[in-house]
Amino acid sequence: MSTMVSPNKKETELSALPEFTPALAKELEPLYRRVASVIPEFEWPVYARYIKAINDLKRERGAIVLAHNYMTPEIFNCVADFSGDSLQLAKLAAQADADIIVQAGVHFMAETSKILSPEKTVLIPDERAGCSLAASITGEDVRQLKAKYPGVPVVTYVNTSADVKAESDICCTSSNAVQVVESLGVDEVILLPDEFLAKNVATMTDVEIITWKGRCEVHEQFTTEDIDELRDANPGLLVLAHPECPPEVMAAADYAGSTSDMSNYVKKEQPEKVALITECSMSDNVAVENPDVEFIRPCNLCPHMKRITLENILHSLQTLTVEVNVDPAVAEKARLAVQRMVDLPLRKVSGPKFRTQQPLAHVEYAAL
Ligand code: 13P
Ligand code: SF4
Repeated sequence: MSTMVSPNKKETELSALPEFTPALAKELEPLYRRVASVIPEFEWPVYARYIKAINDLKRERGAIVLAHNYMTPEIFNCVADFSGDSLQLAKLAAQADADIIVQAGVHFMAETSKILSPEKTVLIPDERAGCSLAASITGEDVRQLKAKYPGVPVVTYVNTSADVKAESDICCTSSNAVQVVESLGVDEVILLPDEFLAKNVATMTDVEIITWKGRCEVHEQFTTEDIDELRDANPGLLVLAHPECPPEVMAAADYAGSTSDMSNYVKKEQPEKVALITECSMSDNVAVENPDVEFIRPCNLCPHMKRITLENILHSLQTLTVEVNVDPAVAEKARLAVQRMVDLPLRKVSGPKFRTQQPLAHVEYAAL
């Protein structure tokens, strides 16, 4: 279920919003019909007032909202102009015909948008929306690694700061990591900073991988016991996992892929019952589009993603804050790494095979 708009901001702001009149209820009815299965009716009048204010102000300002798949359903379905996984959002930011982008996601996503679109104003509604992976490594760490492993190319997950991207040869996301690693035509790469993504990639390629001890605080919590319990309680359950999960969890799943890969898989396969081993809002958002599928919800919340609310999206549009800027010299170097990834032709490599299939002997941890 969705999280209610936090009541911590002053009532004056609420009173400044359009009233929830019968006319507004009618205007937004198609949107409510879309989310009715995941947003209780009693919560809708408050959401509707914010949604109306945000959508009007977006038009007035020529702004768009880019939303990650982990946004709560009222954001994802009712104010987002575009939504997707990290790779799709990076591409959309570059292509978007708008002067102002409000990034409904975490800080590294807003930085990536700014790196690809330096001329646009990129706003993040709460600049504290970080990521445990991005926080696990600095640009200086990467410089030291390059000195220790001279000539070994550095592949960096997009869940990193601009400083880290600037020290990298190419970026990757969970939907293209194997493809990116193999595109370099080398025997060994440094793949940073997610140790589990690195190990999961290693099950699908012969390239030797040196990695880092970064972890997603949301996905590292899932265990094979969780999956066994779910299967025992729900015969016939289809289990989908994100590649930031530990390798043994991936091995226990039926399918693995990025957030959008999982969503597309459910849309195509229409399983009777599915469990998405990932962040909580995913199930709400995928459920909206798949009314005939039953969702079993063993989820973990990402506290960073959940910092973004309708309330602070509106505030961001009203005040044009918080603007995300990247030092132009850093951005220029980081852009090369992101652009190399964006320019790779799309080849689907995640899927049922993106699971532990061979020993993980060719992964080592980088030591400084
Ligand atoms: P995706 O690229 O799969 O959307 O993942 C981003 C993320 O932060 C997952 O935790
Ligand atoms: Fe970072 Fe994990 Fe949150 Fe994604 S879910 S933003 S990887 S902490």
